[in-house]
This record gives sequence, structure tokens and C-alpha cells, in this order.
Amino acid sequence: MLEWGGESIPYLFVSRMRIPAVITIDGPAGAGKSTLGALLAEYLGYLYFDTGVMYRALTLVVLRAGLDLAAEEALETLAAQVHILVVPPTVADGRHYTVLVDDEDVTWAIRDPEIERNVSQVARYPGVRRELIRQQRAIAQGGRVVMVGRDIGTIVMPDAELKLFLETSLDERARRRTDERHSTGTTLPLPVVRADLARRDNLDQHVLYPASDAVILHTDGMTPADELAWVIDYLQRR
Ligand code: DC
Repeated sequence: MLEWGGESIPYLFVSRMRIPAVITIDGPAGAGKSTLGALLAEYLGYLYFDTGVMYRALTLVVLRAGLDLAAEEALETLAAQVHILVVPPTVADGRHYTVLVDDEDVTWAIRDPEIERNVSQVARYPGVRRELIRQQRAIAQGGRVVMVGRDIGTIVMPDAELKLFLETSLDERARRRTDERHSTGTTLPLPVVRADLARRDNLDQHVLYPASDAVILHTDGMTPADELAWVIDYLQRR
């Protein structure tokens, strides 16, 4: 039995569903894409791949190299050179995967506030996106993957058979983020979290729209278990 926050999620008749080889989940920061993506992948026995980690890992390398964030060409070159690998968890510390950059474990380092502050700018450059998207497509080609990001249904895998787009109000996202931080012992006031999410929405706007054939899931008031049940039900009914 799969569990989320003490809630059990019953296994349904997976074998009777025709499951798409690639499922994409897009939506704004804090909408719960990663949580739903990881749950759904575990449920289906699929690979879970969060594309945001690639932009974050590249940002880490850029900052460490002391590169000017405005040096678009240098960033583009780096995107093609740096070796980012996402593998199953190598440490049992709550992570869903391990992120390696040139063999260094950067799984937690890419969650640093400094990365958070700068990643959107790195992700804006078309050349950077082109290179990372090429790598993302190569990963998705293998099939049996739940791929999470902003532009997965629109740009990376437009032919994916199931494209989910999560819509969650800014207030709800801010509340959830604040609660998450409380549970990990780090506290930030709600208005600060809300303002940061609004800032990121604005910076990510260029990729933040659903594919014309995406299924929109409004998640306000839903728990991750509710969302998973909704998706399984959708897969069974379609
Ligand atoms: O989902 P996240 O917070 O880890 O994403 C980090 C940044 O990368 C964020 O600014 C959006 C960007 N991103 C993107 O532009 N395209 C994706 N497919 C995934 C993330």
C-alpha cells in the first residue's frame, strides 16, 4: 500500500488501464508537481524525472565558476559541457533521487536559496534551454517516465499521451510552502514566501502555459493523495 502523510492510497486495477508511456506534469512553482510526479511514478513503477533539477544544477555550476549570469554564450557552452546525471537515491535522507554533477552529489546544494534566486535567469536563455531539452528528450525516449517541469507538455514532449497541468492559487501555494518549511524546521513568514512565488511566476511566465490538449487539474483544497487518486481515476475512465 502506498502512503502519503499517513493516508493510504489503495492500489486500483492498474493492469486494466492503458497507461501512456510518457506522462508530463507542468505548472507553476509550488503547485505540487514534484510530489504528485513522484507519487504517480512510484504508483505506476515509472521513472520520475524532475527537469527543474537540470536548470538548478547548471545554475550551481555557473555560480561556482564565478561566471557572469548575463554571459549568455558562456552559459550556453557550459550547458553543453557539464555532465548532469539524475540517478535513484544513493542516500536514505528523504530524497527522491540523487543529482550528480561531474560525479559530485549536489542533490541538496541545488535547493540553496542562492540557486533559487538565480535559476530563472539561467533558464531564460534559448541556447541553454535547447541543450537541456535535448537531454530531457533523450531521457523521455526510453518511455515509462513521469516528467515534471514547465514546458514538458508544450515543448519537450508535445506528443506525450497524457499531459497534466496543475493550477493552484498563489495563496494556497504560499500556504503549502510555509507549512513544508515549518515541518523541516526552517521558517519564513507567509508574505515573504508568497512574494517569492509571485516573483518566480513572473520570471517563468515565458514557459508557463498549458498545452492545448493538456488536462488541467485545479489542486486547491486537494491533498497529494487526492491528486493521485484523481489521475488514476482519469486514466481508468479515458
Ligand atoms: O521546478 P523548479 O523550481 O525546480 O525549477 C527551477 C527553475 O527552472 C524555475 O525557474 C523554472 C525553470 N524550469 C524551466 O524553465 N523549465 C523546466 N522544464 C523546468 C524548470
